Amino acid sequence: MGKALEGVRILDMTHVQSGPTCTQILAYMGADVIKVEKPGEGDPTRGQLRDVPGEDSLYFTMLNGSKRAITLNPKSKAGKEIFTKLIQQCDVMVENFAPGAIDRMGFPWERIQELNPRMIYASIKGFGDGPFEDCKVYENVAQCTGGAASTTGEIDGVPMVTGAQIGDSGTGIHLVAGILAALYHREKSGRGQRVTCAMQDAVLNLCRVKLRDQQRLAHGPLKEYPQYPGGKFGAAVPRAGNASGGGHPGWVVKCKGWEKDPDAYIYMITQLQAFPALAEVIGRKDWLENPDYNTPQARLPRLKEIFAEIERWTMTKTKFEVMAICNPLNIPCGPILSMKEIAEEPALRATGTVVEVDHPKRGKYLTVGNPIKLSDSPADVRRSPFLGEHTDEILRGMLGMNDAQIEAAKAEGAI
Ligand SMILES: CC(C)(COP(=O)(O)OP(=O)(O)OC[C@H]1O[C@@H](n2cnc3c(N)ncnc32)[C@H](O)[C@@H]1OP(=O)(O)O)[C@@H](O)C(=O)NCCC(=O)NCCS
Repeated sequence: MGKALEGVRILDMTHVQSGPTCTQILAYMGADVIKVEKPGEGDPTRGQLRDVPGEDSLYFTMLNGSKRAITLNPKSKAGKEIFTKLIQQCDVMVENFAPGAIDRMGFPWERIQELNPRMIYASIKGFGDGPFEDCKVYENVAQCTGGAASTTGEIDGVPMVTGAQIGDSGTGIHLVAGILAALYHREKSGRGQRVTCAMQDAVLNLCRVKLRDQQRLAHGPLKEYPQYPGGKFGAAVPRAGNASGGGHPGWVVKCKGWEKDPDAYIYMITQLQAFPALAEVIGRKDWLENPDYNTPQARLPRLKEIFAEIERWTMTKTKFEVMAICNPLNIPCGPILSMKEIAEEPALRATGTVVEVDHPKRGKYLTVGNPIKLSDSPADVRRSPFLGEHTDEILRGMLGMNDAQIEAAKAEGAI
């Protein structure tokens, strides 16, 4: 047993969501993550969407757990000296400022390589090289430019963004993969390298199946889409409501209590192997003898009617009853779980996916632990740090600075 990333030091220059979600996973995996924030201000999310007056918001605490925090202005003279030492002593630097911000602080990649050839320098930007490379980007900009919004929503409705933060947290996870690969490569090469992830690219990677469908359009209508057979297909992949993105048609159907409970729904999948069991359980065994229904091909133009029949049955049961009946029959289905149900789910607490953390100033709060489980290295999930909580500890313990040097840096506003 031991922390997987024990001994890896991360110089965390990230803010808001995309970058912090990356470094938080690295901290959960046992890296020593040193979050650098602007003196007196800190990460803007500390004060955003506050629920407890005057204290760090859940936005901040849920994205910056298990880290240490230092305040430092690398634009000041003393700040540059401290920042230089931090670069020399860390393994990975992560940032997600607007393009050029770290260069403007006086630390372009060439300089970082000179200071520490083993340094891995990882960045998130909105776009890769091209016409939009200088743009500032937030979550929904990435969802819109990466193909998610144009392919999400009701078939006759406006483009829709999703609640899953695929632009921010999705890119953060992509960056984690890049950093771990660069760390592994450094074992052999002895050198660090530059790792970059564009939010548009990460969203597109998660929308891969829609680029698949764009190419399939050239060969005829997309028969598993709700537009088939009546509606028309245009030049681009349309929005598909709740249709499944895979080879087995699926849809969201109502369950008992849907009139009052906005989450009394279940997603049902008409998988080829499980179709006989599904037809039988909903009382439509006759479909299995009927050539209009007994092959996936024959069912494609009748999916609306088939899901309406399934719904007639699911409306007589709660979503959990449907799940309990269908699971033993290997019929794939998924109840629509509300955030309340997820927050209260004992199994998610038991696996450490939902963790209650104690915070001395704002009290207990829930966070998402590490969704990546390692058998020998349990996740290290701790509360987020206060602004500058570890400044002294890091300057003295790690950088060997004395009282006079620290006082001088303070006087200059560098820390
Ligand atoms: C998220 C984003 C739109 C926010 O933009 P913003 O609030 O205007 O912040 P910026 O990134 O431009 O950086 C703010 C400034 O603070 C400065 N700053 C940051 N940390 C500092 C510190 N510790 N000390 C002193 N100055 C600091 C930066 O140097 C920058 O100054 P400059 O523009 O004069 O060079 C932008 O950072 C961005 O596009 N990031 C990349 C994509 C991304 O990650 N987006 C998703 C975020 S969830």
